[in-house]
Amino acid sequence: MNPHHPPEPFRIKMVEPIRLIGQDERERAIEQAGYNVFALLAEDVFIDLLTDSGTGAMSQAQWAAIMQGDESYAGARSFQRLSKAIKEIFGFRYFVPTHQGRAAENILCSLSMKPGAYVPSNMHFDTTDANIRARGGRPVNLLIDEGRDPQNLHPFKGNLDTQKLRAFISEVGPENIPFGMITITNNAGGGQPVSIENIRQVSNTYREFGIPFFIDACRFAENAYFIKLREPGYAQKTTLEIANEIFSLADGATMSAKKDAIVNIGGFLAMNSEDLYRKACNELILREGFPTYGGLAGRDLDAVATGLWEGLDESYLAYRLAQTAYLTESLLANQIPVIQPPGGHAVYVDAGRLFSHIPQSEFPGQALSVELYRQGGIRAVEIGSVMFAHPDPVSGQMVYPDLELVRLAIPRRVYTQSHLDFVVQTLVEIAGRGRQVHGYRFTYAPEFLRHFTARFEPVPGSAKT
Ligand SMILES: Cc1ncc(COP(=O)(O)O)c(C=O)c1O
Repeated sequence: MNPHHPPEPFRIKMVEPIRLIGQDERERAIEQAGYNVFALLAEDVFIDLLTDSGTGAMSQAQWAAIMQGDESYAGARSFQRLSKAIKEIFGFRYFVPTHQGRAAENILCSLSMKPGAYVPSNMHFDTTDANIRARGGRPVNLLIDEGRDPQNLHPFKGNLDTQKLRAFISEVGPENIPFGMITITNNAGGGQPVSIENIRQVSNTYREFGIPFFIDACRFAENAYFIKLREPGYAQKTTLEIANEIFSLADGATMSAKKDAIVNIGGFLAMNSEDLYRKACNELILREGFPTYGGLAGRDLDAVATGLWEGLDESYLAYRLAQTAYLTESLLANQIPVIQPPGGHAVYVDAGRLFSHIPQSEFPGQALSVELYRQGGIRAVEIGSVMFAHPDPVSGQMVYPDLELVRLAIPRRVYTQSHLDFVVQTLVEIAGRGRQVHGYRFTYAPEFLRHFTARFEPVPGSAKT
């Protein structure tokens, strides 16, 4: 056995059947979906790697906790149990539960943002970016240069460039920055981790200028385990100790519990400021619910409280990070180009290199996501020109992203190594007929977030024989 790929630290006691429907049915399904995998029915998908958010398998302890859920409107025991977990892991003085991460972002932005204000980060996730913009603010991404290079093996490619941060704060003035952020791990940049040294420097910089510092903590446990594995001085620390240290450097956090708390729904906004907490409670009551349940049922709070601890379990994390490592190594061994090193929750295939004959205007990433479904019933998301290409506001010329990627996100505790082997085999088969694959063009595209609802038609001319 390869010690780098430890087996699942659990056995399976409940199963959800999945089925690979026939080739003809898949062809019909993807055509009817307008060649957009978001429009497929889940029952027509064999292996669903669209996202790791809310798609994890809960444990027996979480299901048992659900049965203990206290549905009292105010002061429920479930809330007390969640408070205890958040206090012990995150250490912030206050928190409010929310139905998911973007609700926490919305509350933070609604209370702090002034039109024209800036919010720096290593890289904002798209919901954070959109919530800042929706309140008239301007998100700013200050990732280190290594984080943008797909082959660079830097151990912490999610780090924020602190020199750029300092220069940026001096340029726009700290009074125009209501809060600063950092995302751990950096989802939009390949699930790459941030070092604790970097978090400390970022914290010092924000504090020097009196700027409140919030961590987007969705994948804090995966990030803590990367620190344990890679950062000098942390090998002997527990993931709990590392998490405690990370959050002691911040003034608050936004959290989507659908990731590292391994639940299907839930989140929270945590903070040290009493003033912000009081305002957040008012906003919560207006839009989400009373402060001891947020937008959730009591049983959901219990599932989060239990899942936060399970997410930090080191045997689970060793297996979890080994899954992306295994998939990456297996794909590389078969000459499938992927982003390196593997991130925590997903593997990113470089569709631009795999299908170098398809121009960016005909969406090589979209072509690969369609082929994954046609070939193996696998669903994955394009992260390339469909998502990011836009006309330059001045010249009107199309501006294309650097990379045409397809993200294979791994749900937590859901798929086994043989599922991953099937994904590898499918990609190898697709690569084998690489130049026969053609591109796509829009038949419909909304103005914003178009990857969710766009429709396409094939452009057969881009295939080579
Ligand atoms: C880094 C990051 N921040 C925020 C969010 C938003 O969380 P949610 O989907 O629970 O609203 C996500 C979701 O994928 C994320 O990956």
